[in-house]
Amino acid sequence: MAHSVTASAPGKLLLFGEHAVVHGKPCIVTAVDQRLFVTVTLNGENMFRLTAPDMGLEAYVKTIDELGGADLPNAVRFIEMLYKRFLERYPQNRGIDVVTKSEFSASFGFGSSSAATVAFAKALFEVCGVQASNQDLFELCYRAVLDVQGVGSGFDVACAIWGGTLYYVTPGKVIEKLLDEAPPLVVGYTGVKADTPTLIRQVAELKRKEPELVSGIFERIGELVDEARIAMSRGAFEKVGALMQENQRLLSKLHVSSAELDMLIDETIKMGAWGAKLSGAGGGDCMIAIVGKEKKALVEGVVRNNGELMRVNLGAEGVRIEKISEQ
Ligand code: MEV
Repeated sequence: MAHSVTASAPGKLLLFGEHAVVHGKPCIVTAVDQRLFVTVTLNGENMFRLTAPDMGLEAYVKTIDELGGADLPNAVRFIEMLYKRFLERYPQNRGIDVVTKSEFSASFGFGSSSAATVAFAKALFEVCGVQASNQDLFELCYRAVLDVQGVGSGFDVACAIWGGTLYYVTPGKVIEKLLDEAPPLVVGYTGVKADTPTLIRQVAELKRKEPELVSGIFERIGELVDEARIAMSRGAFEKVGALMQENQRLLSKLHVSSAELDMLIDETIKMGAWGAKLSGAGGGDCMIAIVGKEKKALVEGVVRNNGELMRVNLGAEGVRIEKISEQ
């Protein structure tokens, strides 16, 4: 019987379809090779202990009966809610100690909370000897994300589980692996941390005020996600760039771009990128530019000078067990 299990899950980068995906349209997301590691150890007591040094949390302790109160610190909310949901479904008579270790900073918007939730769930199922398919993991993790955030399409949870590059429709209605080569992207961080649930709610509010305008924007974003999927499968990256440009214009109309994002996007286009757009909720965080080999160094240079150049490999492997220790 396993006594301690470590699992890891990748971060994510949204390529097309942000915001519209919350409202039923498809998106394309790719896993990045920066991983979040979670170790779960059975402690034989009625206790839940969590240490998450990368999220600024040392030795957080609760009894099992206290799980899921409203007082949860940010860094533990997802993990604690998931544990509570897990115990409701699969009652256990032993508590756990949890330790997380991150390869990426939570501020970069690569989805550290979904990666932490998924890696934790995988290790938890394994250490408790409960069989779980990817679909079981998805349902429990997405439930926990909604418990905590109230909003979100679940694309980041799917990406942390399946990895690779996915075509996704909420709430997991379509989760399809695109086997194509990851597009040649340069990734830049604006230096500004954005809050995803706030941005989702702002867009929902705009939709309430201007339903026709916003529905039209979502409709077109949905179409261009489908066009991008085809262009990517053909390796037609200039076309992918043109679609990124259009996606960015539509996101600007939703008021989710920012001065920092616009500046990085404009500069990369001036340096010869085929297209560029924000990636994720907007308001800051990351942008992506698609660029041919000849212009890559120039585009990277301009990102380095005006923001932070993120070196990541795309299409990374989904959640996996890293280590199992017996008692
Ligand atoms: C955030 O990374 C992407 C959004 O579409 C939210 C979501 O899909 O959950 C804005």
